[in-house]
Amino acid sequence: MRYLGAVLGAAGLIGEVEAGSARVSALVGAVKSYSYMDEAPLQEVDVNEGLESTLAVLAYKLDGVEITREYDQRLPRITAYGGELNQAWTQILDNAVDAARSGRGPEERGSVKLRTTCERDGVLVEVSDDGPGIPEALRGRIFEPFFTTKGVGEGTGLGLDLSYRVVVGRHGGDIRVESRPGETRFQVRLPLAVEAPGDAAGGAAEGAVEAR
Ligand SMILES: Nc1ncnc2c1ncn2[C@@H]1O[C@H](COP(=O)(O)OP(=O)(O)OP(=O)(O)O)[C@@H](O)[C@H]1O
Ligand SMILES: [Mg+2]
Repeated sequence: MRYLGAVLGAAGLIGEVEAGSARVSALVGAVKSYSYMDEAPLQEVDVNEGLESTLAVLAYKLDGVEITREYDQRLPRITAYGGELNQAWTQILDNAVDAARSGRGPEERGSVKLRTTCERDGVLVEVSDDGPGIPEALRGRIFEPFFTTKGVGEGTGLGLDLSYRVVVGRHGGDIRVESRPGETRFQVRLPLAVEAPGDAAGGAAEGAVEAR
């Protein structure tokens, strides 16, 4: 009897270990694809996939927020710094989720919408939320480093500064924001390929790979 108990206990434990390691390997897979681990920084990037792996990494934050996706399935791959772009998506999504939650009780669900479309010479990524909006007087300052309206310990004001440097500085793209109470939309445009060496460390070496 004791033997049986030990066997069953061990079987249960093994089951748990298996489930646990399946969860861990799913997470490791998401983080690998999120960070482009083991890959060159300049990549052929599937932007829809980058948004998905960013959502997977941010999953712990998404409770109570409805996420809708409208991905263009024919979106061309772009030549870009994939890991850096995912950091920009992280920051923009993080803000959208905060906004969608703000001012709402635990029962009310805010929503965040992701949309991608193909444009003539690049791709457009839109992240919209139904939060309170950004007052017009502050709109010109949100990309400044350390500008934050969040409380101490909640925000450092570096998220959009980082996003701007990645999108505009590194990729020659563009970020715009449209906002009114109940609807804020960040629009990120990226060219099909990085044209000039980026401005951050290592940019010169990488620029040699693809300077068109
Ligand atoms: N989707 C949004 N809706 C409303 N306000 C926004 C939104 N995105 C950004 N903001 C405003 O822009 C400010 C700057 O954003 P940023 O991401 O740079 O910093 P943060 O979110 O405050 O802090 P951190 O990102 O460093 O944690 C925010 O504090 C907020 O006031
Ligand atoms: Mg932020």
